[in-house]
Amino acid sequence: MNDKQLAAEYAANLITNGMLVGLGTGSTANYFIEALARRQHEEHLRIETVSSSPISAVKARALNIPVLAIEQVAKLDVYVDGADEVTADKTLLKGRGADLVREKLLASASAEFWVLIDPSKQVSHIGEKSPIPIEVMPFSWQLVKHQIEVLGGHCELRLNANKDGLAVTSHGSLVLDAHFDSMDPDTLNGHLNSIAGVVEHGIFYRLATKIFCGYQEVVQVN
Ligand code: 5RP
Repeated sequence: MNDKQLAAEYAANLITNGMLVGLGTGSTANYFIEALARRQHEEHLRIETVSSSPISAVKARALNIPVLAIEQVAKLDVYVDGADEVTADKTLLKGRGADLVREKLLASASAEFWVLIDPSKQVSHIGEKSPIPIEVMPFSWQLVKHQIEVLGGHCELRLNANKDGLAVTSHGSLVLDAHFDSMDPDTLNGHLNSIAGVVEHGIFYRLATKIFCGYQEVVQVN
């Protein structure tokens, strides 16, 4: 079992009957969905879920996990997802995929937000390894790019996987991948929240409640 899977299995074992569980997106979230499905099958665990992405909903339904539409849900018991970067104070960077908007919506609406990682995701500051994704309304990208530059950052429009077109999120937004030399996440979060034309961004500040880090057969919980 790899470290991500170890963290996912551990978290899945903490889910109890009657919970409404938010499903994240990515390879780690996939391990969690598989572990939940196994508990449902073997232990008759009774849960409902809501998904942060079409792809996770497809996977969960294929494994017979009940998935509610996001429109049916006002609050969740727990949202469980991976992350691209995690700092010691539980600030996250997310959004390498195309589902940032729903990921942050579910994380914000949940009583608890559990983050599943391996040690490669631990960083000393956000933006250390990856750019900060900023989802923008398609027609606003130049205006937002200028505002990012005024803040001292620089950014480029994300291309699709083939590099022959622009990346479009599941929400229909374009993505600016931004770099900032130095700015604390609290300040940057506030600035990005206030730029018109920004739909959502990848800094998850004060949302995560527990970090599960799998490493060599042991899961450390913070
Ligand atoms: C997608 C995300 C993912 O949670 C993040 O990219 C981690 O992915 P993985 O579990 O595949 O390492 O934020 O938007």
